[in-house]
Amino acid sequence: MPIIAHISDLHFNTQDNRVAAGLLKDLLQIQPTLVVNSGDLTQRARRNQFIAARAYLDQIPFPQLTVPGNHDIPFYDFATRFLAPLSRYKRYITPDLSPRFDHEQFVVLGVNTARSATWKNGRISLEQIKSIQDTFCPLPITQFKVLVTHHPFVPPPDDPTPALVGRGKLAIDVLDTCGADLLLAGHLHRHYSADAKTHHVGIKRTILVAQAGTAISRRIRNEPNAYNLITLIPPEVELQVRAWTGTAFEPITSTRYMKIENHWQKQG
Ligand SMILES: [Fe+2]
Ligand SMILES: [Fe+2]
Repeated sequence: MPIIAHISDLHFNTQDNRVAAGLLKDLLQIQPTLVVNSGDLTQRARRNQFIAARAYLDQIPFPQLTVPGNHDIPFYDFATRFLAPLSRYKRYITPDLSPRFDHEQFVVLGVNTARSATWKNGRISLEQIKSIQDTFCPLPITQFKVLVTHHPFVPPPDDPTPALVGRGKLAIDVLDTCGADLLLAGHLHRHYSADAKTHHVGIKRTILVAQAGTAISRRIRNEPNAYNLITLIPPEVELQVRAWTGTAFEPITSTRYMKIENHWQKQG
């Protein structure tokens, strides 16, 4: 069964080294098909922080798909922020800002939502919306379609205030039309899952949303370090949250959904 491990917000320079070692150990045991990393690899986009992030990612012996977060653009260094915002990310992590991973059962597309001008809040461009359409629309309904961004499309269930990704409403219409199945993001350091329809009430299909907490950073928000595991068991998918207990990562929630026509229905 294909397994996608979704990690986010590593924030090197604020990492907890014990938790970082625990995450590596957990991933090595699980042997995921793909590790998705939804951005904020560093705390301040400094060179030494990217070097530390690179050294850590090099210890993960599985295919990886990564998008940058706002913290991967320098904030105080205005010259770099506006003239070459992702130069260090591209040098140390990957030059590919539109990564795609193809598997016979699923396709993952990454979109860079980090922007220099609106440093904290992200955005999707019209060109990126077109690339989402070109990627997902030709695929058969049986292929599981996953979009990865740093900034979220849906707020936490208990807090409607966080800013969502700019042009998210326009993008979600295309994702709906092209049959996207799952949106993965981070940024808020909160883990939660949802049906995008609960926030974007106009969409016709079910689009699952899985937000990841921070995997290894000390910048936690009243919840433990955590990451998501997505296991494809067609016609079902399991979304599991694995959280740090103090000694290891262990599952804390696990939800299965079954696809019936255009809808993912919660099981059990
Ligand atoms: Fe973050
Ligand atoms: Fe962020």
